[in-house]
Amino acid sequence: MNSILKKDLQYMLDSFGKAEVFSDKTILITGFGGFLGYYFTQFFLHLPSVGVKPKKLILLDNFMLGRPAWVDEAGEADFIQIEQFDIAHGRPEEHEYFRDVDYVIHMASIASPVYYRKFPIETIEANILGLKGLLDYYKDGGLSALLFFSSSEIYGDPDPSAVPLDEEYNGNVSCIGPRSCYDESKRFGETLCYYYAEKYGMPIGVARPFNNFGPGMSVDDKRVPADFAKAVLNGQNITILSDGLPKRTFCYVADAICGYLKVLTHGRYGYFNIGIESPELSVREFAAVYQSVAKELTGYDGQIRYQTSSDKDYLTNNPNRRCPKIEKARSLLGYSPGIDVEEGVRRFLLYLIEEGIR
Ligand SMILES: NC(=O)c1ccc[n+]([C@@H]2O[C@H](COP(=O)([O-])OP(=O)(O)OC[C@H]3O[C@@H](n4cnc5c(N)ncnc54)[C@H](O)[C@@H]3O)[C@@H](O)[C@H]2O)c1
Repeated sequence: MNSILKKDLQYMLDSFGKAEVFSDKTILITGFGGFLGYYFTQFFLHLPSVGVKPKKLILLDNFMLGRPAWVDEAGEADFIQIEQFDIAHGRPEEHEYFRDVDYVIHMASIASPVYYRKFPIETIEANILGLKGLLDYYKDGGLSALLFFSSSEIYGDPDPSAVPLDEEYNGNVSCIGPRSCYDESKRFGETLCYYYAEKYGMPIGVARPFNNFGPGMSVDDKRVPADFAKAVLNGQNITILSDGLPKRTFCYVADAICGYLKVLTHGRYGYFNIGIESPELSVREFAAVYQSVAKELTGYDGQIRYQTSSDKDYLTNNPNRRCPKIEKARSLLGYSPGIDVEEGVRRFLLYLIEEGIR
């Protein structure tokens, strides 16, 4: 097993701290074949080795951007069932594997702006039709919890006075434009969750992820952590397709997954920012972290360069700042991210090097 993955699995078990809740439970994940799905799958696959055996792990994806190589290996475990399934158009009532599920994690939706803008209608459908299909199917009871993956993008381009963002900020989002398919469908997804929780008493957790990165993210994903990793591992200059000034906080995937598991197992309706509070780095500063960590690991000596994207909408409605308050998750869920951005970049690069991925 990859040594970074091994270290992260132990870290996730320790910081989540209650893996036994999944003992003899059935967990269904939509959109498991992407970035975050990789670490979720590895986490659940690892549980039997610490004496926690889920009854079943049902993994669904339509593989619209391809079927990653790790999927077939994961399918070898005896409690895993993998199905190619489009959650936006398939009907849960027609498939027995939707029955008798305890936990649902709905994360089907392309997350990378470059790709969701190629598939705007499909993105809306996964977040709205897919979610509504699940809510309708499970509304009469039986679920221990359903986790909906919203996004920090529901805040849009925030007023600077609202940063760091807490969960009560209403956002500044355009309903028309190249990012609207994503931002607005996440917002409406949250609205669906709110009403289904209110009307049917459903235990729905809503997570708002803030810029995750790390193992599982394809180097061709087109989000900046992937672009930068690809550049430094190929000994090329890091290219920034903006002036490099927009700011983000970057949360390492092992911390983020703990946050999501804590939202899932909260057991009642709630919505939470999941990310890391600091440091809030400009994209330029984030590139410099890659530069120095890669120098330490491989002797990398590339430079940071600026270019204009050939895609005229690349920066349209791109938020200038994205920095969360996480007090709510800290106090109600005990969420406490502990891997700083430099260590996260180090782990991501070491993971890729060990896997021979460039
Ligand atoms: N990674 C982040 O930093 C981040 C930030 C904000 C929100 N999120 C949300 O978290 C979730 C997971 O993010 P990710 O980074 O793993 O995304 P990803 O794009 O890497 O993976 C998404 C997966 O969903 C699948 N999918 C899309 N439509 C589907 C459908 N109709 N039926 C079945 N599968 C479908 C895709 O094939 C893909 O495997 C998404 O809902 C995303 O919007 C992630």
